[in-house]
Amino acid sequence: MTLPPPWNPLLRGFLSRGETPPIQTGPHFPETHFIPINYIVANSDFVSIPMAHFTPGVTTPVDVFVRLADGRHVQVLRAGERVLEERLNNYRARAVEIFWIRRTDLGQLTQQSVTIAGIVVEHPNATLAKKSEFLTQAASSVFREFDMLGLDGTAVESARQVANTVLTLATSEPSWLGLLEELNRIGEEILRHSLAVSVMAPMIAEEMGWHRKDTLEKLALGGLLHDIGMKELDPEILKTPRSELRFEQIRDYESHPLRGAQILALVPKIPEEIVAIVIQHHENAFGLGFPKRLRDVRMHPLARVVAVADTFCEIVMTSPWNNVPKSPDRAVRWIEEGMSQPFNKETFKALKQLVSDSLELPDSSGSGSGWGGRVA
Ligand SMILES: [Fe+2]
Ligand SMILES: [Fe+2]
Repeated sequence: MTLPPPWNPLLRGFLSRGETPPIQTGPHFPETHFIPINYIVANSDFVSIPMAHFTPGVTTPVDVFVRLADGRHVQVLRAGERVLEERLNNYRARAVEIFWIRRTDLGQLTQQSVTIAGIVVEHPNATLAKKSEFLTQAASSVFREFDMLGLDGTAVESARQVANTVLTLATSEPSWLGLLEELNRIGEEILRHSLAVSVMAPMIAEEMGWHRKDTLEKLALGGLLHDIGMKELDPEILKTPRSELRFEQIRDYESHPLRGAQILALVPKIPEEIVAIVIQHHENAFGLGFPKRLRDVRMHPLARVVAVADTFCEIVMTSPWNNVPKSPDRAVRWIEEGMSQPFNKETFKALKQLVSDSLELPDSSGSGSGWGGRVA
């Protein structure tokens, strides 16, 4: 993939060094202090973006603002200008952690994030941590766009690009264990979980001998979007351990597959497999899942895979519901013994094989997440 100018020389230099780019001192920003370019009266057409989203050394594709206490927005960067680390540090020193952009520019910023993540993931010199960081930022941008502008064809296209980047990364890494460990560091709950499922679903499918690219891409996209209905739930439900949810909270929680399908129903040309994954990812082979208590034979084949990936990721990843994630092999044993293996047999067998194989890899020692590597 070729990065369009003017980002490529900067990003290429940054990647070749493998780390943070140097502070840029270009003609646009001879000073490092707060430079108001333009004041705009407060209105609702601005959306907030964490400053961390802006990568030093990379050109912003949109105008960037700071919001003053009186609600006015001060333009601090013009579209096409480079983000300088020194300036970001100055804003941080003034307790500015949030930038603002015009709502109509959000898609453009997301698209830049998605494009950069695609380039970083394919770059031979980028570390796994760096690839994971850019991928997370791109996925976060896409989810932010869903929240702020809703899900439409453009947003789903960005999600599809992120899912394809996930697939590229998952299939090019020697071990998915290291990737899952990197993703486990993501602070945002749904993002962390969705990316992990997006990684695991195609990996399980490949283990089953499913190698068609379009199938794997649908699994990656379905994994990324499977919990899209959660965004409509009371945030309190997401923070509360499941065993402590009240009856009506459980009912709401169990409505998220249907809510997700309703959201997707508004998106033109959404593949039917993605809708099936979203609506069926909590069903299981025993017919004891939700929302429709479908048995295995009535589940969509791709939904069977995402159902297994979803449960596996819930067990191995940190969440408000899971303070002590299990190691992958213990998770497999838990599904088998603690849950009586309620999933499609072939799919679960593939997961089990995948976990068994990965623990044999020389670089599966993990790096501190607590479960990576050879565990009992
Ligand atoms: Fe779910
Ligand atoms: Fe999930």
